[in-house]
Amino acid sequence: MMNGLFISFEGIDGAGKSTHIAALAEAFKARGRTVTLTREPGGTPLAEKLRALILNDSMDALTEALLIFAARRDHLTTVIAPALARGEVVLCDRFTDATFAYQGGGRGFDLEVLSKLELWAQDIQGLGNGFLQELGKKGEAAAILQPDLTVWFDLPPEEAAQRLVGARVPDKFESQPVEFFRRVVEGYADRMRGDSSRFARIDSSPPRELVWASVYQVFADKGWLP
Ligand code: TYD
Repeated sequence: MMNGLFISFEGIDGAGKSTHIAALAEAFKARGRTVTLTREPGGTPLAEKLRALILNDSMDALTEALLIFAARRDHLTTVIAPALARGEVVLCDRFTDATFAYQGGGRGFDLEVLSKLELWAQDIQGLGNGFLQELGKKGEAAAILQPDLTVWFDLPPEEAAQRLVGARVPDKFESQPVEFFRRVVEGYADRMRGDSSRFARIDSSPPRELVWASVYQVFADKGWLP
């Protein structure tokens, strides 16, 4: 059986992840891989209900972080981990780096609290299936599940804002001022500094076809696509 692959995609709103994620799903399918295409917050019936609350209702920062990690735990235990155990490719539109970037960087919420929540929510000890024990044996810090690769679409907040003008009715995060997104970008940069081998930073300023070529190259270099 093929090894499961867990890939997350990050970037500020307007950075243009979606079309590339869809194209990658097709590329993996063309290679005969089974792809689970999913997103956060969301990806399960429960987590999608939480998503609606997280994106639309105002709440204090800890409440928001707890709901995000609750959604993540449900998503991880019922969708992501089982798909990886079946050897699938999981393409996830946002994961925990978004929490460090938006809640940590953007909102200025306590990074230590986020780190604790990350350890709890992504703890895969005792989920009781072969794949997860395998992961544990690799000696990963506390056997927490992290993506094998995180593709970060990096775009200056001013450019992202321009791309979003008139695109849709903005949600709670999309309607934040440009300074908020500057802090989000810093949050992503900090996460990348802390775990650089997991990250591929893609400059999202060039035209879409050129961005796609850079994205594809990352996967080709890993030997995951031809
Ligand atoms: P997004 O992924 O951009 O979906 P869409 O393309 O439908 O707008 O929207 C999700 C929003 O949620 C985005 O503004 C970032 C925010 N978010 C957080 O603040 N923290 C998180 O941990 C995650 C996963 C997302």
